Amino acid sequence: MSARALFAHPRAGGAALLCALMLAACGGDDDGQTGASAPEDSRAASPTVLHWTLPEYVAPDDWAWNLPDYFPPPRVPADNPMRAEKVALGRWLFYDKRLSGNGTQACATCHEQRRAFSDGRARALGSTGVVHPRGAMALVNVAWNATYTWANSALPSLERQIPNPIFGTEPVELGVSDDAVAVVLERLRADSRYPAMFAAAFGTEQISWQRIMQAIASFERTLVSVNSRYDHYLQGKATLTDAELNGLRVFHEAQCDTCHGGPNFTDQFISADTREIRVRYHNVGLYNLDGQGAYPADSEGVFEITANLADIGAFRAPTLRNIEVSAPYMHDGSLATLEEVVDLFAEGGWHILEGPLAGDGRASPLKSRLVRARALSAQERADLVAFLKTLTDPAFLTDPSLSDPFQEGAR
Ligand code: HEC
Ligand code: HEC
Repeated sequence: MSARALFAHPRAGGAALLCALMLAACGGDDDGQTGASAPEDSRAASPTVLHWTLPEYVAPDDWAWNLPDYFPPPRVPADNPMRAEKVALGRWLFYDKRLSGNGTQACATCHEQRRAFSDGRARALGSTGVVHPRGAMALVNVAWNATYTWANSALPSLERQIPNPIFGTEPVELGVSDDAVAVVLERLRADSRYPAMFAAAFGTEQISWQRIMQAIASFERTLVSVNSRYDHYLQGKATLTDAELNGLRVFHEAQCDTCHGGPNFTDQFISADTREIRVRYHNVGLYNLDGQGAYPADSEGVFEITANLADIGAFRAPTLRNIEVSAPYMHDGSLATLEEVVDLFAEGGWHILEGPLAGDGRASPLKSRLVRARALSAQERADLVAFLKTLTDPAFLTDPSLSDPFQEGAR
């Protein structure tokens, strides 16, 4: 995939949530222990860190988020406030195959509820049969992400991300080409349900791409998962087994929470309360093709955006909520099980012995310092996996308000 394809799409309609941000890129420590920027001349040797200062947030709506007290509400863009009718419309559009150029795929084709809105494939398969270099991400608490997709520092809002799957050509997902732009709108207008739903959501029956994208983004903000057994444990409503508690201890001791920390188990978390954030990407030593830390050319991490050599192989630390159901893992689905992922972090990288991807990720010079060999016993590794499974939220995976409305056949 080219950096161009992922960069803000010219069609990006919805005004960006964070355009008021002060954006500054500079070199910095990967482990978050120093606040200072690296000196200018060492910049190429340090992974990119974005320092963002956010304006004070005033909610543009009175949406009831129903969150536990340790989970502050997200920032909703002022020009796309939450509204029940808009969310309802967005849900239909998310599941509507007519939204793809050739009518074969919906967002939900690659983002299935029972898999925490991922698709079970290592790499996504677009509507025209093209294989994506990366896997479909789980969509869990996406309203709070600092940036979107596996590694794109230029996509700071859902409104900015959504043109990619719809109009993107490198690679194709829904494949709405220039020819199909008007055709898809006609298809939707021909469904007698839609004009009324657009009117309820936006005030008039007009069906436009801008409205389609705003409605889907509003629906995406309702993909909220805060009812795992771990949440119930935090709230004193459930207990964890000894193995799970030991896994939680290992999770802290092995510093997993430096990158997968906070209420959403990721360091890229922005809420109504956030005023400052350092946005980071991390190389976890999955590949080391040449001894210098090289990654396969089709997916080189945020380096594709920043062109900073120190960012090769650096990806966003995704949320770990519902991780049990979103296998296979990592940006390219290269690890099949949670046991393998835990082995990677316990060994301090992934060692591939043969084949075109052979190389010792443990020895990558680009790897984060936090990914290093740790003396974890087989029992501790198993307990860590047991803990990760406490982050599964069955209510989220079966919530009828997030399910396919076409199946239900009702509004
Ligand atoms: C062909 C499969 C496919 C389809 C169809 C698809 N996606 Fe995705 N989605 C992906 C892949 C692959 C990624 C990761 C992209 C990357 O990192 O380059 C992704 C990432 C995302 C993300 C980023 C999540 C995060 O945490 O950063 C969002 C949001 C998203 N998709 C929403 C949508 C919406 C909305 C639609 C429909 C308009 C859609 N997707 C259609 C495969 C798909
Ligand atoms: C230096 C930051 C960092 C640390 C420390 C870290 N991770 Fe990660 N983790 C990441 C990144 C970045 C990815 C995605 C890497 C990729 O796709 O190439 C990831 C991916 C994962 C995934 C797969 C996610 C998915 O959706 O495919 C799991 C599970 C995971 N980490 C668990 C852990 C555990 C358990 C620990 C501690 C033993 C840990 N991580 C430590 C940054 C980190």
